[in-house]
Amino acid sequence: MTTRTRILTGITTTGTPHLGNYAGAIRPAILASRDSNADSFYFLADYHALIKCDDPQRIQRSRLEIAATWLAGGLDVDRVTFYRQSDIPEIPELTWLLTCVAAKGLLNRAHAYKASVDKNLETGEDPDAGITMGLYSYPVLMAADILMFNAHKVPVGRDQIQHVEMARDIGQRFNHLFGQGKEFFAMPEALIEESVATLPGLDGRKMSKSYDNTIPLFSSAKEMKDAISRIVTDSRAPGEAKDPGNSHLFTLYQAFSTPAQAEELRSELLQGLGWGEAKNRLFHLLDAELGEAREHYHQLIARPADLEDILQLGASKARAVATPFLAQLREAVGLRSFVNQVQVAAAPKKKAAKTARFVSFREDDGSFRFRLLAADGEQLLLSRTFADGKAAGAVTKHLQGDEELDLRTAANTFSLWLQGECVADGPEFADSAARDSAIAALRAALAPQQD
Ligand code: TRP
Repeated sequence: MTTRTRILTGITTTGTPHLGNYAGAIRPAILASRDSNADSFYFLADYHALIKCDDPQRIQRSRLEIAATWLAGGLDVDRVTFYRQSDIPEIPELTWLLTCVAAKGLLNRAHAYKASVDKNLETGEDPDAGITMGLYSYPVLMAADILMFNAHKVPVGRDQIQHVEMARDIGQRFNHLFGQGKEFFAMPEALIEESVATLPGLDGRKMSKSYDNTIPLFSSAKEMKDAISRIVTDSRAPGEAKDPGNSHLFTLYQAFSTPAQAEELRSELLQGLGWGEAKNRLFHLLDAELGEAREHYHQLIARPADLEDILQLGASKARAVATPFLAQLREAVGLRSFVNQVQVAAAPKKKAAKTARFVSFREDDGSFRFRLLAADGEQLLLSRTFADGKAAGAVTKHLQGDEELDLRTAANTFSLWLQGECVADGPEFADSAARDSAIAALRAALAPQQD
């Protein structure tokens, strides 16, 4: 059991990250992921991107650029789970399960949808003109992102708080309807970083693509320099005292400098340092901080196959959580196999929910497998593959007989053998003590029940 806090956030893949995104979201998230108490899940929200963008080239380009930006920025993929939303088929599947319990009235109140309706009404259009079901259901997909991994903390901008609250609502409703006293979903909390910098853009308003006032992050040193030269300043000439408190150039500098460096620039500005020279200082500061990462970024972009591998690895880490969890949720709503409906040791109905159970499923290649889940849903066993459901069924039946189980340990895992053949494997454990207690639990679960 882990006590680490699970932190999860998604990045919609519609643009190229700029300096403001870096200071406001990427840099703090990467720093937070280094905390040993954090179990971070960061993903590219590319299904969400489809809601806002119907340009395939742009979607693809942005996914690549955002993945490369996070990695170049120092994200350690051994430590965090970094994946693309669209590589996790369990997410759209969970979206549907949640769609079936989400109240329409709840979604009617979503800010993004309401803003679109209001705009239509203002212009005398049909209220739903141009509004897709994607936009309308956006919060349900986001709820699935969050609930799929039972995230505790969800770092987001203020505009997303409502969506996290909706995830709680929808998750709670599901727990209530199907949990039978068990909380499938933990309740997530939005995490708003007050201390994180909102950078001003070239014109002093918040740096944002929609204001066209951004400083590029990793494009090239020259482009960064050009953008910096366009920072708006007042008309004070070199030699005249400047007011650092009223200069967004100074604010930008401060966001990346040490306090001592900031102090130095402040006093020089007060003593009349020219704006041109101040821009030069800002460029050199940013170039020193970001130059190496920029190089790394361009190396990554040049090797998309490597990026693909990294993300596939991330997807399998994420799916190691999502697949067994979704199997439980499918069971809970009644999407169950016809083959192995056997409750272990056919307990009386009231007890049934409390016993371990077999859940069988088919692989993409058509082969059959089963899992044995403990009463609390923990996976005790995952079978090898069988050519047909009958063979799988015969094994599960045999395991419920009174024969002694042939369990063999190896390192921190174990396997189950039947007539000289390995038929199933236990999970990987942190140590042999955890392994042995799981074996004890497995023996208890399969022991013939006394009434
Ligand atoms: N909607 C978020 C945004 O636009 C991105 C996002 C998608 C997200 N799924 C998420 C954020 C889950 C946090 C958790 O910023």
